Amino acid sequence: MAIFNSRTCLSRSFSTLSSQPLRVCVVGSGPAGFYTAEKMLKAHQGAQVDIIDRLPTPFGLVRSGVAPDHPETKIVMNQFSRAAQHERCSFFGNVTLGSSISLTELRELYHVVVLSYGAESDRVLGIPGEDLIGIHSAREFVWWYNGHPDCKNLDPDLKNTDTAVILGQGNVALDVARILLRPPTELTTTDIASHALAALEESSIRKVYLVGRRGPVQAACTAKELREVLGIKDLYIRIQEADLLKAPEDEEELKNNRIQRRVYELLSKAAATAPSYPRSGQRELHFVFFQKPDRFLESDERRGHVSGLQFEKTALKGSDSSQCIEAANFVSYTTLSTLLMVLKSIGYKSVPVDGLPFDHQKGVVPNIRGRVLHDASGDPTLLEGLYVCGWLKRGPTGIIATNLYCAEETVLSISEDLDQGVLATKSGLPKPGREGLLHLLDNRNVRVIPFSDWEKIDSTERRLGSLKNKPREKLATWEELLKVAME
Ligand SMILES: Cc1cc2nc3c(=O)[nH]c(=O)nc-3n(C[C@H](O)[C@H](O)[C@H](O)COP(=O)(O)OP(=O)(O)OC[C@H]3O[C@@H](n4cnc5c(N)ncnc54)[C@H](O)[C@@H]3O)c2cc1C
Ligand SMILES: NC(=O)c1ccc[n+]([C@@H]2O[C@H](COP(=O)([O-])OP(=O)(O)OC[C@H]3O[C@@H](n4cnc5c(N)ncnc54)[C@H](OP(=O)(O)O)[C@@H]3O)[C@@H](O)[C@H]2O)c1
Repeated sequence: MAIFNSRTCLSRSFSTLSSQPLRVCVVGSGPAGFYTAEKMLKAHQGAQVDIIDRLPTPFGLVRSGVAPDHPETKIVMNQFSRAAQHERCSFFGNVTLGSSISLTELRELYHVVVLSYGAESDRVLGIPGEDLIGIHSAREFVWWYNGHPDCKNLDPDLKNTDTAVILGQGNVALDVARILLRPPTELTTTDIASHALAALEESSIRKVYLVGRRGPVQAACTAKELREVLGIKDLYIRIQEADLLKAPEDEEELKNNRIQRRVYELLSKAAATAPSYPRSGQRELHFVFFQKPDRFLESDERRGHVSGLQFEKTALKGSDSSQCIEAANFVSYTTLSTLLMVLKSIGYKSVPVDGLPFDHQKGVVPNIRGRVLHDASGDPTLLEGLYVCGWLKRGPTGIIATNLYCAEETVLSISEDLDQGVLATKSGLPKPGREGLLHLLDNRNVRVIPFSDWEKIDSTERRLGSLKNKPREKLATWEELLKVAME
């Protein structure tokens, strides 16, 4: 309640300084962008909020990350749509910060710019062979099955091998394992991209290895998602009993963390109840622990293609094992050598745009509670009117709801800055805002996709979906999306 009161008062203090609206631009229309927009609209009655996104479609990873078999998670799009339809809010798709418009230009047009453009690249392992054909990042694979227009042509080879190796044991790793292992008939009524469904129907992949560099106590996934993958129909699960042995440090860690305790219990139960061998033809999921990828091996028959992986056995040392991964004092390699498909699910990575301070070590924009710092050196100088939210602010972790709290913090910082006059000197002056943005983009021949044009895409996708008993049939190329939007 205290926060609400202070915001109401902050909003008033801005309007006494200026008769024109507070011009706000939010870059990125994922959860962080939409929660920021919602909260700005509520906290500042005089604010006009424009959301830009590089795609013609809104909602970020809610559309292109959340798995197709999790429709209930996507209901939040309704809430975001209501925000986009608010009289003081606009969505402009097909506008890319960094190419359609620069950060400097955006800051000149708006009093407040909030960057929430997520993490659209990948962490790398930095080991030999990482560029071999047949190795993809989980991000690309997820974009492929979710119909993101940048990955329609990924074309992962699911036919020349029966084995997929997924590196990492977070929730994204579990998502991609589930999509590979679920009977495709169970996906036909989801919004999975049709090219992906067709490939999965023809897939010969029967065996998936989920490989972690630490142990079952440290696995990065959560219980609900683990239970779901363990519950796949007619799936053989393999977990080595020896990997489940706990060190005293593990016991301590489990005592202090309920989520890890639940995950460990589920893995132990699965190991204890699994039959010794799979039945012939049965799909298999192998959880592999304490294995650090060391090098990818190239196929002799198919030059340039991955045919194996070498791992180094690890051991955890020290009391805080979450911090400490060390190779065992003897070096032991495990080699998987068969034709493989490899998905690296070791985390996403944000990319900076020109003129944006960036902490390359942490992969985030340096900030204090959402206020962007001048540089990443620790110098507390702030960049006036520039804020950050979501994965670009915190790094690539957290569920959709985490971004709500994140947006609350960033909007509170904006409100405090307005109240304390930090923004007043400049923001008291008129800013071109929306009109200036549209004028500049028009001059550059950027075809802006407003929310009403996205609604055309949306209704086309729903209509096409209804013909196949799917919630929607995603348009998965830039050409199709832009064509329908411009009809
Ligand atoms: C595969 C996957 C599955 C997930 N599943 C779930 C789940 O089931 N439940 C859950 O609660 N959480 C889930 N999450 C987590 C959740 O999706 C994230 O917490 C959340 O989407 C992060 O929000 P964001 O707004 O920071 O980034 P994003 O959602 O990535 O949004 C960023 C937006 O910025 C746009 N953009 C990028 N670059 C530019 C640019 N230069 N100019 C303009 N726009 C740009 C993008 O197009 C995108 O729309 C999942 C995450 C992943 C990766
Ligand atoms: N259903 C859902 O709610 C859902 C679905 C998908 C995603 N999400 C959320 O989205 C966020 C991102 O998920 P994520 O799975 O991408 O990230 P994550 O949870 O951070 O998991 C990353 C995984 O990669 C491993 N890893 C990192 N660097 C590595 C390296 N160099 N070598 C080997 N392994 C390495 C990590 O191991 P270490 O632990 O050893 O570092 C971990 O297993 C998470 O917060 C997740 O919960 C939620």
